[in-house]
Order: sequence, then C-alpha cells, then structure tokens
Amino acid sequence: MGKEDRDQWIVKCPKCGRVNGSCRHVSREDVRRIVRLLKAGVEVFPADEDDEPETPEPHAHEPTHLAHVIKPRFGWSDLVLAPATREALEDALTELRHKHLMYQGWGLRRVVKKTKGLSLLFAGPPGTGKTMAAEALAHELERPLHVVNYAQLENMWVGETEKNVERVFAKAAEDGAVLFFDEADAVFFRRGFMTAPWMNRDVNVLLDHIENFPGVVILATNLARMLDRALDRRIDIAVEFPIPGAVQRAEIFRRCVPKQAPLAKDVDFTVLAQRYVLSGGSILNVVRQAMRTSLRRGGRHRITQEDFLRAAERESKKGTLLAQDHLAPSLRQEGIRGYA
Ligand SMILES: Nc1ncnc2c1ncn2[C@@H]1O[C@H](COP(=O)(O)OP(=O)(O)O)[C@@H](O)[C@H]1O
Ligand SMILES: [Mg+2]
Repeated sequence: MGKEDRDQWIVKCPKCGRVNGSCRHVSREDVRRIVRLLKAGVEVFPADEDDEPETPEPHAHEPTHLAHVIKPRFGWSDLVLAPATREALEDALTELRHKHLMYQGWGLRRVVKKTKGLSLLFAGPPGTGKTMAAEALAHELERPLHVVNYAQLENMWVGETEKNVERVFAKAAEDGAVLFFDEADAVFFRRGFMTAPWMNRDVNVLLDHIENFPGVVILATNLARMLDRALDRRIDIAVEFPIPGAVQRAEIFRRCVPKQAPLAKDVDFTVLAQRYVLSGGSILNVVRQAMRTSLRRGGRHRITQEDFLRAAERESKKGTLLAQDHLAPSLRQEGIRGYA
C-alpha cells in the first residue's frame, strides 16, 4: 500500500480491534481490494426481509456447509461410456478394492513410502457424465460423496480459506467420503495463464492436501489444458470424457427416455444418434424438449420422431460454440496431454 493510501484509509479490524493500515486478519491486499470496491461505488447493506432467501445464509465457519454431502444416486450401470473411459474408471476401482494387496502384499508401500490415497482427474466437455461418474464411483465404493462448495470455502479473512480447506479434507477423511472438486478450473486455473481466481497460497494449500489425502479425491474440469501444471504430479489417474460416439449416443437416448413415456412408432434413436453429435447432457435436454413439444399438442399425443428431430436441431445449434471448441481436431489430438 502506498504511503498516501495509509494516511487516507484507516482500518478497524473487528477481530482484534486494532486500528491500523492492516493487521493479522486484514491484509494490505484486503484493504486494497476493499478500497478499490468502495471507489467503484460498491455499497453493502442488508437485503430487505422480502428479498431474503428462505434459508438463512450458512455460516462460513461451519464445516458442514463447506461441502455438500450427497448420497450417490447413480450406479456404474447407469453410465454409458467409451471403452477407454470405462477402463480408466475400472482401474481406479481396482486399485481401491485391492489397495491392501498392492501396498502390503505386493510391497508397493516400500516404494511409495506412505499409503497413498487416489486422486483422479475427470476431463471433458460439459454434459459428458463427469459429475455422474463421480457419484457412480462413490456408489460403487459405498461411500458418501462430498462436493466442495468453493463459494463457502473462500474467505476474505487472511488464513481462513486455508483453515476451511483443512476442514473439508478432515471431514471427508473422517466420513470416509469421496471428495469431489466439481468444475475444478474455478480454483486451479493455470497461474499466469489467466487471472487466478484463487490466491497462490490457497492453491498451494489445496495441492498439499490433495497429495496427502488418504482417501479418494476427484477433480472434474472442462478445461484440462488450462489447469495448473502443478496438478500434474498430484493426479494418479486421468480419465478423459469425450463426446460420446453414435453407438453410445443411441444408448444414452434409450436410457434418458423413460419406459412410461408415450413414444410414436416412428421414433428411432439410432437415426437421431447418427445425425446429431451431442453430449449426454444435451441428449437429456433433447428428450425434455421433445416431451414439451408433444405436450403442447395436447396431453394425449405421442412423442414423435419429428419432435425429437426438432429438439435435437435446436440443441445442436445451442451447443455449436462449445462443441466446436471441444471437437476441434487439434484439441482432440492433444487430448489431456500431461495428465495421462
Ligand atoms: N456418459 C453418460 N452416460 C449416461 N448418461 C449421461 C452421460 N453423460 C451425461 N449423461 C446425462 O446427462 C446428465 C448430465 O451429465 P453430468 O454428469 O452432469 O455431466 P458433466 O458433469 O460432465 O457436465 C446426467 O445426469 C445424465 O442424465
Ligand atoms: Mg458436472
């Protein structure tokens, strides 16, 4: 902070009560940020009662809010995957199931020194089943899934984010949970590549915890190439989730359309799958849209192939930008280099 700033701005810390330019709780960086926001005209006031959400804001210090605890709904058989993706996931399961044999019986412990947990990276375009696979993995292991809540983890108080990170890992270890960093790019953007959303120090703390976590930690990302290189050596198994091929797309269509849904005779998922390159998430959208179109004709009408075709057309236009990015040949060839 420049000298003139220090004269201009006096900070009173609500924690230690010190009146100063900065203190143990409020760093100079914090003060700079606050001043910047104030200068930009940011105002802070309590929301009207009416605007308030039904549930009160969870307190950031309560560990239970730092991660959502999810009882996995999806099982292994719900996933439709390319063989390489399935194999990589099965590798992970195999190690977890035979950890004792690998480390004790086969002596890996002497090589690795400590009994390691397992860290996985799920990389692929949106809607390809990464979140679903994390649930399925936890389900197979009969463990709860803790989904990290970044917004609650990050805290403006110096050192608090670090403590929160510690709490998340400690709680997951205590519950024997699979720890899931969904959309991990929110934190692990390569430093220097873009403005890092998290402070260096906090990212380092996270990396250390990932390395030393005795359980399973999964990071999912749409942007593997942009993730911090420091992650490379901390990832044990990288799993690529590509846009599914035509055969898998047809299978996903079959699974996304419930048996009770009234289909017209002409509905042909193979034709739809061959014509439209869509992720599983997009296929789910197509199914819902086809249902809406059919319902608009009246509740007694069947869902026709035309309904599906129109919905798929619409969905593929919506996804053009993203799909181009992820299907570009240069990107595909590069795959998730550096992680495999
Ligand atoms: N590989 C897949 N197999 C079966 N269903 C899928 C698959 N990928 C996506 N889906 C469907 O799309 C939905 C969204 O997928 P999700 O796991 O959230 O994708 P991601 O986390 O990769 O963005 C899932 O709940 C599922 O209904
Ligand atoms: Mg997801």
